[in-house]
Amino acid sequence: MCGIVGYVGHRPALDVVIGGLRRMEYRGYDSAGVAVLDGVGALNVERKAGRLANLETQLDTVGRDAFTGTAGMGHTRWATHGAPVDRNSHPHRDASQRVAVVHNGIIENFAALRADLEAEGIEMASDTDSETAAHLIARAYTEGDTKGDFPASVAAVCRRLEGAFTLVVSIADQPDTIVAARRSSPLVVGVGEGEHFVASDVAAFIEHTREAVELGQDQLVVITRDGYEVADFHGDAAQAKPFTVDWDLSAAEKGGHEYFMLKEIEEQPEALANTLRGHFDGGRIILDEQRISDQDLRDVDKVFVVACGSAYHSGLVAKYAIEHWCRLPVEVELASEFRYRDPVLDRATLVVAVSQSGETADTLEAVRHAREQKARVLAVCNTNGAQIPRESDAVLYTHAGPEIGVASTKAFLAQIAANYLVGLALAQARGTKYPDEVAREFAELEAMPAAVQKVLSTVDQVRDLGRRIADSKAVLFLGRHVGFPVALEGALKLKELAYMHAEGFAAGELKHGPIALIEEGLPVVVVMPSPKGRAVLHSKLVSNISEIQARGARTIVIAEEGDETVRPFADELIEIPAVPTLLQPLVSTVPLQVLAAEIARTRGYDVDKPRNLAKSVTVE
Ligand code: F6R
Repeated sequence: MCGIVGYVGHRPALDVVIGGLRRMEYRGYDSAGVAVLDGVGALNVERKAGRLANLETQLDTVGRDAFTGTAGMGHTRWATHGAPVDRNSHPHRDASQRVAVVHNGIIENFAALRADLEAEGIEMASDTDSETAAHLIARAYTEGDTKGDFPASVAAVCRRLEGAFTLVVSIADQPDTIVAARRSSPLVVGVGEGEHFVASDVAAFIEHTREAVELGQDQLVVITRDGYEVADFHGDAAQAKPFTVDWDLSAAEKGGHEYFMLKEIEEQPEALANTLRGHFDGGRIILDEQRISDQDLRDVDKVFVVACGSAYHSGLVAKYAIEHWCRLPVEVELASEFRYRDPVLDRATLVVAVSQSGETADTLEAVRHAREQKARVLAVCNTNGAQIPRESDAVLYTHAGPEIGVASTKAFLAQIAANYLVGLALAQARGTKYPDEVAREFAELEAMPAAVQKVLSTVDQVRDLGRRIADSKAVLFLGRHVGFPVALEGALKLKELAYMHAEGFAAGELKHGPIALIEEGLPVVVVMPSPKGRAVLHSKLVSNISEIQARGARTIVIAEEGDETVRPFADELIEIPAVPTLLQPLVSTVPLQVLAAEIARTRGYDVDKPRNLAKSVTVE
């Protein structure tokens, strides 16, 4: 949520900053802004409500000549405090206009800080929490112990701020330096030749360097053309972790696709293969990081999966596998609910926190809550070194690569695969599966990239269907067993992309209420289990389809190829390859992603940037 970039180097800063914002616009697109230091004492700022394109048009109108410096910063906003209008856009400046700040996160004590500033006669130019930081830093820089000391001024203000924040700060009379600081919100440094970057996400500078440094909690970094220095908020030198980004620019570009999401749907076989790679070695499932002992894993007597949105659905899928393989009770809970209940946790509880971004505020707080109760936490995450894995006892990374479309696709499939690896690791530790059984399950997972590839080669039919049903009022989704979370995911994709009313139900619940929604012509997507799996599940769903068809629904049936029993009940039949029951979500989700994207396109919506949403939800 909110993308931030800062640059000091030898290139025109405006170009670098705009390029970085373009790659981070998925984090929020309510407004955008830039500040460029011209090197001779001026700090030029331009900002505009709406998408980055609006800012670019504005820059063309005012003329880019004022923005000639080689140091600058930018922001793309997902509004929290204050409407998405020009005056609430970042960068924010102090009254003298000598200090500029961009901010991601929420300053929770901003009301008190703002009241103090106003009592001192400072007039606020915006409704944001962020502006208070600009005034406070300006004051720290012009008076008291920190006078004239840029990093110390920022650190002093950070110590007063409560909540989550990343700040990037420029001061007009320090044109070759940018200071950035973080607490709970992401911040990485990019290390180039004669240039340095700070950003919320490596995507912002991947065009220029793959060498990065991950900042820790409550750390501050000073970047100049020649180097960077990391300290804590008390000014003591601190260690930060260097890493090399394992993907390149092409992964963050559309590569000829109309939308990132369409590219990311196609990248799913690779995302799955990369997620599985290296995790079965010497006959054992291997996690990426394990700071707990094998004995701790053996002692686990209960599992919670906590996550939000699609990641939560991946947990619902995993419940079936983990309970089956490990004979352990598994509860799957929305992170935002988990932390405000009083869940029963102890040292023998394993909390699996699933998060693509690794920075979702609700999931992070759930992790903290779990650890306070002494539970062990295992993170499944797609972002190297993000806060959730940092605060966890063990980590399994999904190697889906950067996901830029706001709606999760390849990260979701990779999460299912990674959750299954967690299940197998637990089964192996607890001895509920023999080593050869673990090896067999892993081999079945390894066959899934090819199965997903096969689905992708047949989705033209789904696109055509999407165009035909794009003007429907609503779409319902039904499934049983692992098909139930797939139905929820299909409905979520359609809601968020096509702004269409969509609901997912457990098919068995139909008669307990939802069947009242069925009316003539209503599209109902049914995710059929394999006829070769548990026959009872299959036959129950066939009955459900015939019940809704009899009431006029337009049935869209996703079924295993060769499943002739469903043909008479399917107004539209979408065939998927035969795979083991527990792995079916990896193939059955794909047509639902394509369907939602196609309906959204047909309705004229931006598939990558659905209204009101942002990729990483770093506020609660
Ligand atoms: C839906 C979607 C969201 C995310 C959710 C969690 O398409 O992308 O529901 O799954 O916001 O995000 P992470 O996985 O980053 O914690």
